[in-house]
Amino acid sequence: MQSDIAVLPGDGIGPEVTHEATKVLGKVADIFGHKFDFHEGLIGGISIDTTGVALTEETFEMARGCAAILFGATGGPKWDDIGGTMPSNRGLFRIRKELQLFANPRHIKMLPALVNCTPFKSETVEGVDLIILRELIGGLYFAEPRKQWSTAEGRQAVDTMFYTEAEIARVVRVGFELARGRRKRLMSVDKSNVLQTSSLWRKVATEVGKEYPDVELSHMYVDACTMELIRNPRELDVLVMDNTFGDILSDEGSMLCGSLGMAPSASLSGSPGGKVFGLYEPIHGTAPTIAGQDIANPLASILSAALLLRYSLELFDEALAVEAAVNAVLEEGYRTADIAEKGRQLIGTKEMGQRVADALTSSRN
Ligand code: IPM
Ligand code: MG
Repeated sequence: MQSDIAVLPGDGIGPEVTHEATKVLGKVADIFGHKFDFHEGLIGGISIDTTGVALTEETFEMARGCAAILFGATGGPKWDDIGGTMPSNRGLFRIRKELQLFANPRHIKMLPALVNCTPFKSETVEGVDLIILRELIGGLYFAEPRKQWSTAEGRQAVDTMFYTEAEIARVVRVGFELARGRRKRLMSVDKSNVLQTSSLWRKVATEVGKEYPDVELSHMYVDACTMELIRNPRELDVLVMDNTFGDILSDEGSMLCGSLGMAPSASLSGSPGGKVFGLYEPIHGTAPTIAGQDIANPLASILSAALLLRYSLELFDEALAVEAAVNAVLEEGYRTADIAEKGRQLIGTKEMGQRVADALTSSRN
């Protein structure tokens, strides 16, 4: 099979980790007899430095024309006024919004080799396999008004939390579809005891649930869910929530699988099935303090490439092979610094990527 894949590495550790993911995809193509054509483009701070904008029209059109996008990370102190505007993220936000990538499943899966590498007891995290499905293009992140201004009494600021029932229904539906292919449990997370948007969210989730009698729907307040996520994560299957809650809970959830460096994500324009268009990125950001040192963990990016194979190319065996190769390398004891137990020999970004690519070869021999 021939596929065009846009590669937008971005800033910080983005290029390093994305490079390892394309190395692994290249190996998948060799082994399984596919042809992946990678189209690389600039995004984020490096694009601002080179072209003046975070994403040029050409790069946007190039990415839109591909089957999927592999994205690294954007941003950094050089371009972003923290707490104010984040111009380097505009390229990513434009892709998410204009290509309607509203559904953002973030996979939290404990790989057996890492059961002793988390801050939690092994019996708490063993077997954890859950998805935080984040609504990605609505809510606090996008609605107007959003601004800061000065008054005689001091400075003021506003962000707006706004959702339509259609926006809620479509992402909740993806949650049901995902749960249907798994353990058939969907938890909708909200703050409906306080927020109007959440109250509507809960009503719509309940209504959509009538279309999925085979999936068990439950509801939980987001504050309670932050506890549940670390108290009893093995019981959780798919959790669906708005943009802000999903941003926060997915960072918390990533610790269950050892590190932010282990959690992949997909940003989809619809339910999985039928080669849905998507952008694939590790949950982590640019980590500027460790960029360029060959110490970042590329596994979240490699696991995001596995999601790309599964959701956008419908190459299911290939996706499983990548995940198995990652697990095999970890079973052999290889670790980047973020997931290392005391006394382990550390390997760098490049070596980790190479070892996963090699494990792929041998797993088919
Ligand atoms: C994420 C990130 C981004 C977000 C930031 C970098 C804007 O935290 O994808 O979780 O909040 O969406
Ligand atoms: Mg985040």
